[in-house]
Amino acid sequence: MSEGAAKKEDKPRKFQAIRGTRDLLPPETALWNRVEQTAHSVFATFGFGEIRLPVFEVTELFARSIGADTDVVSKEMYTFTSVESALSRADAFRQYIGERRVMADQWVTVEDLQKDLQEFILEIDGSAKSDLPMDPPSQVKLSILRKGPEQLDSLRGFQGKAEYHEVFDSIVGNIQTSARWLRFGPSATLRPEATASVCRAYVEHNMQQLPQPVKLYYMGPMFRRERPQRGRYRQFYQIGAEILGGTDAPAIDAEVIEMVMTFFDKLELQGVQLDINSIGCRDCRPKYVELLRTELLKVKDKLGPDSQRRMETNPLRVLDSKLESEQKIIEKLPRIADHLCEDCATHYAAVKRQLELRGVIYRENWRLVRGLDYYMRTTFEVTAAGLGSQNAVCGGGRYDGLVELLGGPPTKGIGFAIGEDRLILSLLETGHPSLATRLSRAETKGHSPAPTRSGPLLYIAWIGEKAHATAIRAAKDLRNAGFSVELPPVEQKFGKALGQADKLGARFALILGDNEVAEGLWTLKTLADGSQQKFTEFDLLEFLRKQDSVSS
Ligand code: HAM
Repeated sequence: MSEGAAKKEDKPRKFQAIRGTRDLLPPETALWNRVEQTAHSVFATFGFGEIRLPVFEVTELFARSIGADTDVVSKEMYTFTSVESALSRADAFRQYIGERRVMADQWVTVEDLQKDLQEFILEIDGSAKSDLPMDPPSQVKLSILRKGPEQLDSLRGFQGKAEYHEVFDSIVGNIQTSARWLRFGPSATLRPEATASVCRAYVEHNMQQLPQPVKLYYMGPMFRRERPQRGRYRQFYQIGAEILGGTDAPAIDAEVIEMVMTFFDKLELQGVQLDINSIGCRDCRPKYVELLRTELLKVKDKLGPDSQRRMETNPLRVLDSKLESEQKIIEKLPRIADHLCEDCATHYAAVKRQLELRGVIYRENWRLVRGLDYYMRTTFEVTAAGLGSQNAVCGGGRYDGLVELLGGPPTKGIGFAIGEDRLILSLLETGHPSLATRLSRAETKGHSPAPTRSGPLLYIAWIGEKAHATAIRAAKDLRNAGFSVELPPVEQKFGKALGQADKLGARFALILGDNEVAEGLWTLKTLADGSQQKFTEFDLLEFLRKQDSVSS
């Protein structure tokens, strides 16, 4: 190998964030913080308390609540084995079998292998059910291992024949691969959403004993293996809220929607559009779904493959279709509002009235069915400007019965989740709040990195050892008083220091040299106009305080 080639190979690999994940950098993170701070304060005024949840949970929690046939559960979850198994001996044995090389002489005899395998299966059979593999791939592996002893028996028939080694390799190889990939215990999943976790926490902490309803909100990352595009990520962030327990009074539905709209209003989000619908209950929805299926069957040939599949698995989702060729057909389908039972119809009418009482402007959208199975009655979605096809910034609805499905008492529930990434994108795109405008300008500058922070108020330009000591003390006092101060770690000529202060976007430079220290009078330069003033340390603090209150 030539020296050049060796050098090329030695070059350390440069890592990149995994597709669908991304770093959030300053100064954009300042906007994230502002959005989250606004959520904390608005939600608190509606009586919500924050809940912090684990990022991963037992897979079954999501499968059971979101629904096994939904896109999220069937295609998009990040699932792995995490739960410790009590079967430590079996686990060690699994490795022992799995890691030996596939060669006839690795076991003294086939009988030895057979004995080892039988012992392993016996141990598994005697274990608690919860320790056994629960994820489907592991269950398949286990059934292959169970057949292992019998297959090894059949190997005896090949003793002395030419194919013996080939058959041995195939049977033992199969056993080894299955053993290697077998995982014990229930699997865990990175949360694709948080409603299921909030309900789990409600049951786990007996929150039904607290005054009802319990109002909780959360924020944090969620994970879905979707096809990444603008506004759609594999790690994305949600800000959500849930109301659990108490009544299903329509005023609750309306208040939770009012809260989201108040939040968006405070952030001056542009182009906000609220869509609402009612998807009925356990009594009336199945009848409507059947009617829909019958009508869809009549036009089956005109539907695309996705809708044809959904017609079988979940006909309601056909209404979600964005396919141009299907729009006219969908418009003619029966509408759920005409098929609600009396209770659901009354509830829906009352929700609309309650929204009107609160001055919340909505649009009825009979095609709004939502993609998760736990919803019933009220569903809603909010879209905003500047987002293209992924324009839903918030989705939510009522889910009475979900807590019960997760082993709790019958409990009413309603909530929503805001896609924080999309919310920020919309704020940046429409540039309404002043911070967003500044950030979006930084974004359009191409590949040069955006500044990592907003500029300091004050840059201390110091020269000389004595001045350095004074500068350190001044920086400490000024920061304690709440001002943002940049203190260069090494001495710089004044010209260079002032240039640096300018680049960082500082408003003032504090000039500290031998003269200033000796006189006890410090020079403050206003960078915008180059004017200079002298201050005692005390007067400087007063001056900066006044400046700060003028600018904020
Ligand atoms: P969802 O409609 O699946 O509902 O998600 C809510 C919001 O999260 C969406 O409107 C969107 O803004 C954002 N979102 C979803 N997936 C992605 C993604 N891959 N990338 C970026 N943003 C995304 C729920 O999650 C329910 N748990 C909401 C809820 C709470 N319902 C009742 N309570």
